[in-house]
Amino acid sequence: MTTRTTSRAAVITAAGLLLTACGSSDGGSGQAGPPSFEGRGPITYVAGKDTTGTVQPMLDRWNAAHPKEKVTFIQLPTDADAQRQQMIQNAETKSDAYTVLSLDVVWTSEFAAHRWIDRLPDKRFPLGKMLKPVVETARYRGGLYAVPASSDGGMLYYRTDLLKKAGVAAPPRTWDEMTAACAEVRKLPEAKGMSCYAGQFQKYEGLTVNFAEAVNSAGGTVADAAGKPDVDTPEARKGLDFLVRSFRDGTIPKKAITYQEEDGRQAFQSGKVLFLRNWPYVYSLAQKSGVKGKFAVAPLPGLNGPGSSSLGGHNMAVSTTAKNKATALDFIEFMTNEKNTRTLLEDASVAPPYAALYDDRQLIGQYPYLPVLKESIVRAVPRPRVVPYGDVTAAVQQEAYAALNGDKNSAQALRDLQKALSKAVAR
Ligand code: GLC
Repeated sequence: MTTRTTSRAAVITAAGLLLTACGSSDGGSGQAGPPSFEGRGPITYVAGKDTTGTVQPMLDRWNAAHPKEKVTFIQLPTDADAQRQQMIQNAETKSDAYTVLSLDVVWTSEFAAHRWIDRLPDKRFPLGKMLKPVVETARYRGGLYAVPASSDGGMLYYRTDLLKKAGVAAPPRTWDEMTAACAEVRKLPEAKGMSCYAGQFQKYEGLTVNFAEAVNSAGGTVADAAGKPDVDTPEARKGLDFLVRSFRDGTIPKKAITYQEEDGRQAFQSGKVLFLRNWPYVYSLAQKSGVKGKFAVAPLPGLNGPGSSSLGGHNMAVSTTAKNKATALDFIEFMTNEKNTRTLLEDASVAPPYAALYDDRQLIGQYPYLPVLKESIVRAVPRPRVVPYGDVTAAVQQEAYAALNGDKNSAQALRDLQKALSKAVAR
């Protein structure tokens, strides 16, 4: 790992020097300008497993209109870390198997710095109509390396029927209010055996998200805006302690230590948990389940008031080693246009990058939470925007998991995390 990181760093430095020597195309920031996108023909679209069932129908529409430039869908595992691994392997073997990549918003810097993805021409895409923080996730050192396809903000799903029956008038704004609401609901015979709260706590990217949200929602940070780690603080400790305590006292069920997004969704849909932290895609699926009409969403709770979400989402990029890049660019334009992202919202409650869709009356009629989601995305806290993101997230996962599992106390976990993060970003 260390050797690979070092040799990659050497490549980047060498490439940077070369560019400076030749003169770069963007005013000396050291970044290459967009390459020419040439070649037409079949391509592939590579993304995590489609749990919504809406991607292939969209690809079918593209294929019907472009019989000589068909796109084949390559589905990777649901877990973000496994997707990243496979995409990096494709890049390192200089394979042309992957053309268009659906990149998690947190990977842009890493993929751009290593030249695994091409710089894209800004003017081709209606970025001005998209939410600003969402577009920022697609940039690296000012250059555009991907196009926002979907955004994501964490929300609190809760059972309206049970809260009402228990006499709880409004969804909780703080963690204490949430546990108090649970205590009331648990007195109801129909809530027998129900757990209070779940999120994503398996050792993978979802844990990084949930840890960062707990820390941010208690007034702490993982790293500052420049990517400098600052997690060994009393505020961060209060955030982590909320999760540790909740596991210990059963507010979070023990088995949630194995939960990814889909596990939590199943638990909520089958009436096993009262409150669930999850992304917007769950809304549409849950409306087709046993809890249809019995739930709503609210902003995430925090220590002293509403909490803040981690900024999630996916952007589309072109693999540097791919063929048929002219087709790839057209395909990205198609997948990320306002009409298609609207369809994804209507059919699968996927959060769109376009600002106007959050204020659209008809869409708000279908999804009353859209204004809340827009706020949560605009105010969301980005995860550290650093090139060695893989090392950063691995360190967060390791220390947060150790604390939740009871292997280390929170203070020790945060001290060790601060050290590990500082080492990772210094490399
Ligand atoms: C969602 C988010 C993504 C995040 C992942 C974690 O897919 O869009 O940004 O990293 O969940 O599991």
